[in-house]
Amino acid sequence: MTCSDSDYAYLRELVLEQSANQIDPSRNALFDTRLTPIARLSGAENLGDFVSMLRSGQTAHLHRAVAEAMTINETSFFRDMRPFEMLRQVLIPKLVERRAEERHLRIWSAASSTGQEAYSLAMMMVEHFPELAGWDVKIVGTDISRQVVDYAKRGRYRRLEVNRGLPARMLLKYMTRDGEEWGVSPQIRSMCEFHYANLCAPLPFLPTFDLVLLRNVLLYFSQQDRRTLFREVHRKLSPNGYLVLGNAEQAEESTNLFEVEFGADCYFYSPVNVF
Ligand SMILES: C[S@@+](CC[C@H](N)C(=O)[O-])C[C@H]1O[C@@H](n2cnc3c(N)ncnc32)[C@H](O)[C@@H]1O
Repeated sequence: MTCSDSDYAYLRELVLEQSANQIDPSRNALFDTRLTPIARLSGAENLGDFVSMLRSGQTAHLHRAVAEAMTINETSFFRDMRPFEMLRQVLIPKLVERRAEERHLRIWSAASSTGQEAYSLAMMMVEHFPELAGWDVKIVGTDISRQVVDYAKRGRYRRLEVNRGLPARMLLKYMTRDGEEWGVSPQIRSMCEFHYANLCAPLPFLPTFDLVLLRNVLLYFSQQDRRTLFREVHRKLSPNGYLVLGNAEQAEESTNLFEVEFGADCYFYSPVNVF
């Protein structure tokens, strides 16, 4: 299924408007592979017909489905490893010290995809910070794709997924095998929750967080949308909290609301006090 250049341009514009994701024209073929199943389900003969359907309006649900289908959901347990080591050795101990009186920690896995990042954090906390037993620790994962949010909520992973990044010892300790899948243990699941949220729209329901992981998603956004998102994250981060970006991402190119706390092969930021 292919369509005209103007149809592809319309699809790129639609995705940008719905999710702020920029899709380069060189990747038009991705529309063909990702949208063909939705087009067929909607009764369209081909992608061109489907675009006509989308253009006709009254199809808000299809517009959302297109944006969700075009997301890149690549993730894994303990992705890139180094940030998790830094979190374990430096950041979490500092946060534990700072929250010793309140005894609660709020962590946001923004753009959580299928949930591996949030569950990795929960496993790390239980494994390395026994002093948190009795604390109120919550990891909130959000994503624009309802499909991956539902997947994360299920907390069940295929062999291929658990083989990517999860040490065997942790797999056996924090997951249970059930046929072809592995299920996250009730203890780890109870620390995590997952919700739909568009990072490029206001985020009213979220609390203030001690730690925000915003990894491997900024690359899809324009400079303007990154700036707006950094403002939102700044509002949602406690004044002595931390922001973690992906290995190839840096805040200072888009905002002066954060300053590097440590950085070498991965970056950790503190919010700048704007008052
Ligand atoms: C490549 S994954 C990164 C997952 C995880 N943070 C990691 O580093 O492994 C990017 C995720 O960002 C989500 N995403 C893209 N645009 C978004 C938006 N506007 N709001 C919320 N999530 C978005 C996608 O659905 C996808 O699951």
